[in-house]
Amino acid sequence: MRVALGVSGGVAAYKAAELVRRLQQEGIDVQVVMTRSAQEFITPLTFAALTGQKVITELFSGESGGANVESAIEHIAVAQRIDLLVVAPATANVIAKMARGISDDFLTTLYLATTAPVIVAPAMNVNMWEHAATQENIGTLRARGVHVVAPEEGYLACGMTGAGRLAGVDAIAQAVCARLGIEHDLRDETIVVTAGPTCEDLDPVRYLTNRSSGKMGYALAQAAARRGARVILISGPVRLDPPQGVEFVSVRSTEQMHRAVLQHFAGATALIMAAAVADYRPIAPQAAKIKRTGERLTLELESTPDILADAARGKGERIIIGFAAETSDVARHARGKLESKQADLIVANDVTAEGAGFDHDTNVITLYARDGREQAFPRMPKIDAAHRILDQLRALRTPSPQISETQRVR
Ligand code: CTP
Repeated sequence: MRVALGVSGGVAAYKAAELVRRLQQEGIDVQVVMTRSAQEFITPLTFAALTGQKVITELFSGESGGANVESAIEHIAVAQRIDLLVVAPATANVIAKMARGISDDFLTTLYLATTAPVIVAPAMNVNMWEHAATQENIGTLRARGVHVVAPEEGYLACGMTGAGRLAGVDAIAQAVCARLGIEHDLRDETIVVTAGPTCEDLDPVRYLTNRSSGKMGYALAQAAARRGARVILISGPVRLDPPQGVEFVSVRSTEQMHRAVLQHFAGATALIMAAAVADYRPIAPQAAKIKRTGERLTLELESTPDILADAARGKGERIIIGFAAETSDVARHARGKLESKQADLIVANDVTAEGAGFDHDTNVITLYARDGREQAFPRMPKIDAAHRILDQLRALRTPSPQISETQRVR
């Protein structure tokens, strides 16, 4: 999703920086467009740093102040690229220009050029807001289908009290999400997600681990956060950045992951064990490096605690989703793990299948639910697979009457 955020001049312009962050947390790509007066309140550099994109400030912005062809048609390109235009804060002046179709800068030209939905969040002095001219302009915009996020009452920067304060960033972000069809269907969930491998030390330089990249777990954390859940991501060592908006707990050993999961699951509503947890660890890790002796070396291993099974004991209404990465007989093993681990859902994948399993960006999953429901999905990006798994988490909250239904999606 791509949104253009128009920032016009007002004390509330600094809040637009926070809005950029909120929209990014929803996975929205933000292109900032600033009016000249907005730049008196906040610099384009702030937005460029936040978005990693050039901020558009001029209608004609060629080198050394002269125009060039690319910049002259840029507003058309931006207009065609965006899914929505939101103007926050919107001054009385910008609202007036939008209402009358005056296009004397990039933002107002973009407004005329785009066919995407438009949202304005006004911010101004109370008298300016209540002035008949402004109210008439707002009425014109509303009649044209522009969504107005009404300003709040309160203390205004000019020293007066009344309506005119920019609506809260959450309210504006919510209006944007609603127009884009981004739903927060997991807003009541606190989900603990584990990801990546665990590492079991043999000595200070060597360890046992596996090939998990963490991609599936990180995709789940990202997807759940975007759908409004509070997410606690407990991760073994991987080469990925934690997604925005998730609480991050870094662990290394199975023991550490075990402790972190039980601690955080206590206050959560669901657990998704996407981590590839080591099943065995050395009985006696050495404090000093093991020296080569030329002799045969036998490592003695003991089994690690089963985190999922431990969390499942006394879980009550809380939902537990486990993974089964298999190399053969996938369905039998997956159904077996539903039982042995007391999980509500097992996400099974044949890691030997093409485009599935470790370190791929795609996965091929089949979901086995406790109530008998099964769903097989074709190969898809891990972020899409994550959404399908979360859809099932939702479905488990409202059990289907046809519990033995087997659904195959191909
Ligand atoms: N799991 C866990 N604690 C462990 C091992 C696994 O919580 N010590 C979780 C994994 O995160 C996964 C599920 O259990 O969600 C199944 O993991 P898997 O390794 O496939 O199953 P195992 O129980 O280890 O069985 P096996 O290795 O025999 O297939």
